[in-house]
Amino acid sequence: MQTTERAASSKSSAPLEIKPIGDEHREWLNAKMKEIWSGRFVVTRGVAYEPATLPGFIAYDKGKPVGVATYHINDDECELITLDALSQWHGVGTALIDAVEEEARKQACSRMWMITTNDNIDGLRFYQRRGYVMCAVHINAIDQSRKIKPTIPLVGNYGIEIRDEIELEKYLWCWIGW
Ligand SMILES: CC(C)(COP(=O)(O)OP(=O)(O)OC[C@H]1O[C@@H](n2cnc3c(N)ncnc32)[C@H](O)[C@@H]1OP(=O)(O)O)[C@@H](O)C(=O)NCCC(=O)NCCS
Repeated sequence: MQTTERAASSKSSAPLEIKPIGDEHREWLNAKMKEIWSGRFVVTRGVAYEPATLPGFIAYDKGKPVGVATYHINDDECELITLDALSQWHGVGTALIDAVEEEARKQACSRMWMITTNDNIDGLRFYQRRGYVMCAVHINAIDQSRKIKPTIPLVGNYGIEIRDEIELEKYLWCWIGW
């Protein structure tokens, strides 16, 4: 998991630009994902995903990429596979998760969900502040994930042992009107 410093708390004057990931971004994305996630793959609920091949969005600040989100849609559920702000606390994560939610709604998804690990205190705060609720704790699930991806570190944020998967969800009710 990447380590970034909390930046000064002044809002960037120019709005972030959010663009869908295109073929021209795949090489950059592949390198970035390897750097952040210690390998090409991430594992959630026993399934390995290669984020660089998934649909998603990149956030730009003055033309420079500052964050990326990838997702996977299955039936009417959208799983957020990765969400990474390359510079934290500047609104990048919020802008990206909003873009994924909007796309999930467009594709008629009723549920958006994600997996994070027990050490990701900042991520748990972030998701809950955006209306996600913990719907399951998969105790010791990372043992299984390490069989697929042995490079998952033993210790994560704040020196906490990475052990459990925490599943969060939000229902994307649409107002249809009468
Ligand atoms: C979790 C993560 C995606 C959040 O992204 P982020 O860009 O740092 O989050 P944001 O800046 O959008 O929002 C975080 C907080 O900063 C605040 N904020 C936003 N812009 C701000 C600014 N310019 N100045 C000060 N605070 C600001 C937001 O209001 C928000 O507070 P809130 O949660 O109380 O509403 C990011 O920290 C990250 O990449 N973490 C590592 C990877 C990870 O854990 N991914 C998710 C799990 S897989």
